[in-house]
Amino acid sequence: METCLRHARENKYAIGHFNISNVETLWAIFHAARDLDQPVIIGVSEGERNFIGVRQAASLVQSIAHEYDYPIFMNADHTHDFAGIQKAVDAGFDSVMIDGSHLEFDDNVTLTKKVVDYVRGIERSEGRRILVEAELGYIGTSSAILDEIPKGAGDNQTIPAVARKFQETTGIDIFAPSVGNIHGIVKSGNPHIDIERVQQIADVTPCHLVLHGGSGISDDDMRGGIAAGMTIVHVNTELRKAFREGVEAGLRETDAVAPYKFMAHARTRVYDVVREKIALFARL
Ligand code: G3H
Ligand code: ZN
Repeated sequence: METCLRHARENKYAIGHFNISNVETLWAIFHAARDLDQPVIIGVSEGERNFIGVRQAASLVQSIAHEYDYPIFMNADHTHDFAGIQKAVDAGFDSVMIDGSHLEFDDNVTLTKKVVDYVRGIERSEGRRILVEAELGYIGTSSAILDEIPKGAGDNQTIPAVARKFQETTGIDIFAPSVGNIHGIVKSGNPHIDIERVQQIADVTPCHLVLHGGSGISDDDMRGGIAAGMTIVHVNTELRKAFREGVEAGLRETDAVAPYKFMAHARTRVYDVVREKIALFARL
């Protein structure tokens, strides 16, 4: 995963991180990535992990990586406590995100540092690399379609010098800032990305930068953010929306009770969205 991220950073493109809560979405993402010959990261947040199963999610992604000898990685997205991190590490995740963005700066640092120390210990004892990601600045929590921007989300955008201090103190590998991005699709339109801020953060920090809240962001803002230094982009709501619309279309079109018949539409719709996003992120 680290090699792919370094390549993306050096060549100024971004790798797509797409969330799943079922195997149909996983296949759609994998096929879109493979058809475009791009690496891809599968994200599974706490709620999604509870639904699929932590070990089961990891096994599914690993089985595809092995069978196809493909750079498909998995991230334990938005994990709020230490126990959740331990479970994901045990299950074999390639990266873990400790999300202390709702905490005060010092508490976020303490929790993140605890995770980094734990992960480095596992790396030493098990001889594998596990990347640690953390977030600074509240950007909302729901991958959903929202009437308006959630209260407080995006209010405290990340200050470059503070980002640097956070990274130096914690020793993380991947950093998620608040730069105008919001989780979810806002009906009246998502805010713009502050490209200059992304550039300033990239200039003073050694970490890979990740743009959360990738749904609802205009293509121009996305291109600007990636050119300024984002090397991973998270997308979830747009996939969930496509999946739901696909299921609805499938149910309308057939009376079949076989899930693989009416769910096929959902898979196709998700594939189309992911393919479009990967092409945008990789500048294809
Ligand atoms: O971690 C997941 C993402 O940040 C997804 O954000 O639902 O706005 O695409 P999104
Ligand atoms: Zn996120």
